[in-house]
Amino acid sequence: MNDPVKQGILELAKAIWSSDSLRFLDTERTRGLREDILRKLLALAMTDDERAAMLGLPDGCRVRESAKIISPKNLVCGEYVWVGENAVLDASGGLQVGSHTTFAVGALVWTHGSVLANLELDNRSGNPWIVRKPTKIGSGCYIGGPSSIYPGVTIGNKVIVLPMSVVAEDVPDNVMVGGSPARIIRAIDEEWMARYREQNELQNLL
Ligand SMILES: CC(C)(COP(=O)(O)OP(=O)(O)OC[C@H]1O[C@@H](n2cnc3c(N)ncnc32)[C@H](O)[C@@H]1OP(=O)(O)O)[C@@H](O)C(=O)NCCC(=O)NCCS
Repeated sequence: MNDPVKQGILELAKAIWSSDSLRFLDTERTRGLREDILRKLLALAMTDDERAAMLGLPDGCRVRESAKIISPKNLVCGEYVWVGENAVLDASGGLQVGSHTTFAVGALVWTHGSVLANLELDNRSGNPWIVRKPTKIGSGCYIGGPSSIYPGVTIGNKVIVLPMSVVAEDVPDNVMVGGSPARIIRAIDEEWMARYREQNELQNLL
């Protein structure tokens, strides 16, 4: 290689790697964390389908490169789920997602809360104050981003969560919700679907 800039970058990388200030702590926890970090780095070179498969998601699921799934082993996920850029699905408290659901860019789903740890001035790693609640999102849902779904919430099937919403309470099947806190805006019934198809000239696909 005769590009001096490239050569300089390589030399710099080598110097940083061999510096004593670059230290790694070798415990069971750090080994686990490092494995996650390395997987995420390697996943940058993967396609959306490969990334989903690496996370153990079923057929047809796609995960964009900057999405994050926390504790994927606690995620029970249906087929054909799409997770957009910068979406965060926290499955640490147990997360169930039905098939054909989309998490749009920046959607945030939480199954844990650290508020008590902060108020107790005890938010060290491994503190006992973290609240975890199983959270469920149905099939055929569209979760607009950047919305937040709170821990413990159950969202039914065929629900639209409009962008910028905060879903703090359970949501029944077949509704559109929006706002903070999210409120039901309308039913998603066959009439609404027919009108929406017509408005968007999608009738010919049926
Ligand atoms: C969700 C969606 C299908 C709704 O379609 P629509 O034609 O706007 O639906 P409707 O007109 O029947 O109803 C929307 C109602 O919610 C309101 N609304 C729209 N966005 C809202 C929001 N983010 N928060 C609260 N209310 C909202 C509208 O003003 C309207 O209220 P109105 O009935 O009083 O006029 C469409 O807006 C959409 O696809 N949005 C998301 C686009 C997106 O995020 N793309 C990124 C893909 S990764």
